[in-house]
Amino acid sequence: MKRALTLALLIALPAQAQDIEPGDAMEGGELFATYCSACHGTEGRGDGRMAPILNVLPADLTQLSSGNAGVFPIARVVFQIDGRDPLLAHGGDMPLFGEFFQGADTPIKAEDGQPIMTSKPIADLVAWLQGIQE
Ligand code: HEC
Repeated sequence: MKRALTLALLIALPAQAQDIEPGDAMEGGELFATYCSACHGTEGRGDGRMAPILNVLPADLTQLSSGNAGVFPIARVVFQIDGRDPLLAHGGDMPLFGEFFQGADTPIKAEDGQPIMTSKPIADLVAWLQGIQE
């Protein structure tokens, strides 16, 4: 009985891995308030309280889609947050967020439909950011 159950689980797992759940925008909003709003502003418009002391202005994150022909650039955003695409403003090769956003256990769908592996907090942030596009 136990062996049959294990076997059933093994068969079920690969199918499950293909169901890509969108991130949780509510969680993402809380993460954004904690980790990003100081620079990007509470609504992501680039007007955080640290903005005046930065040499490079924080990006207005409500314009990511409109700056990319109406398509939210999921892959680019993921890589800019996790440091695969290092932004000097995010710490360059010394990522600002340390290990918190690291991990590759959560698949999300890039704009071209390809799955990319990232961490749960980044998937949640991306879901929130998608919701604030203008
Ligand atoms: C210390 C200030 C600071 C913090 C904190 C910060 N950012 Fe940024 N971020 C910036 C600046 C400044 C830029 C613009 C960099 C540039 O243009 O080179 C930027 C750029 C970006 C971009 C690229 C936008 C584009 O147009 O390509 C994304 C996406 C982004 N940040 C997301 C985030 C997220 C999500 C967080 C929180 C996890 C965060 N940032 C935290 C300062 C910050």
